[in-house]
Parts: sequence; structure tokens; C-alpha cells
Amino acid sequence: MAIRQIRTMGDEILTKECKPVKEMTPRLRELIEDMFDTLYEANGAGLAAPQVGILKQIVVMDVDDGNQYVMINPEIIEQSGSQTGTEGCLSVPGKYGTVTRPDHVIVKALDENMEPIQIEGEGLLARCICHECEHLHGHLYVERVEGELMDTEAEEE
Ligand code: NI
Repeated sequence: MAIRQIRTMGDEILTKECKPVKEMTPRLRELIEDMFDTLYEANGAGLAAPQVGILKQIVVMDVDDGNQYVMINPEIIEQSGSQTGTEGCLSVPGKYGTVTRPDHVIVKALDENMEPIQIEGEGLLARCICHECEHLHGHLYVERVEGELMDTEAEEE
């Protein structure tokens, strides 16, 4: 169990394409555990491997629906509807912005045992799946923000 350092916007690694995972290894299992530790420590909803400096297609998510999701080599196979809401990212600390996303997605992936899974997400989970999958291809939500990127501190004051 370990907290890993979260890379922030401006770090080149966040712009790179991640490689698919071919086999599960003890090292990758440890990475997944560390990613959950890091996610909870940072109070986030999702974390992708490049955010901790690893260019592999691995995502962990917890949107408070009672599940811990692991997605390896995820691919969104269906999307529908639309939701417009605010979004943030652990790699863009202190900021948030308005992003429109599908309201419903189905993603196929492998779980931590390299078994095929499908996750169906609505609302926040759909948003999170889209956001995290984009990390694996070198994209950040700030590229999609409608209007200004805003300061979370300004809102609290
Ligand atoms: Ni993010």
C-alpha cells in the first residue's frame, strides 16, 4: 500500500498514448492497489495510470455507488444521451469546468484478473468513464471545457 505522486497538467506524460496491458503481473497488481490508495487519499472519483506516471491502459474508479471499478484496456462501445455539468481532475488541482458528456455509456474492458467485463454507466459514472478513458489517450478534460476553467477556491470564499 502506497500513495503515488499525481502528475499535474504540464507534465508531458499526461499527453501520451498509453499501451494496452498484455498480462497481469504482481507489479501491476501493486500498481492497481496503489492507484486506489492514491485515489482515496486525494478524494477523487477516478484515476488513470498515466496520472501516476505509468503509460499503461489502467483505470480505477469509485463514484460512491458501492463499487470499486478497475478497467484495463477499456473501450467505450456504446454511448447515448447528453449531460452538461462540472468536472475536475486530480491532475488539474484547484480547478473545475463545465463539460458535456454522454449520459449513458457501455464500456468493455478487462478486470484486474484479465477477465472481460462490461460496465454500464449513467450520470456520474458515465462521465467518469469518458474522462478516464481520455487520459489513456493523452487527453485532459480542459480541452473540452465550455467557457472558462474556474477556481475551486474562489467558489468556497
Ligand atoms: Ni482526470
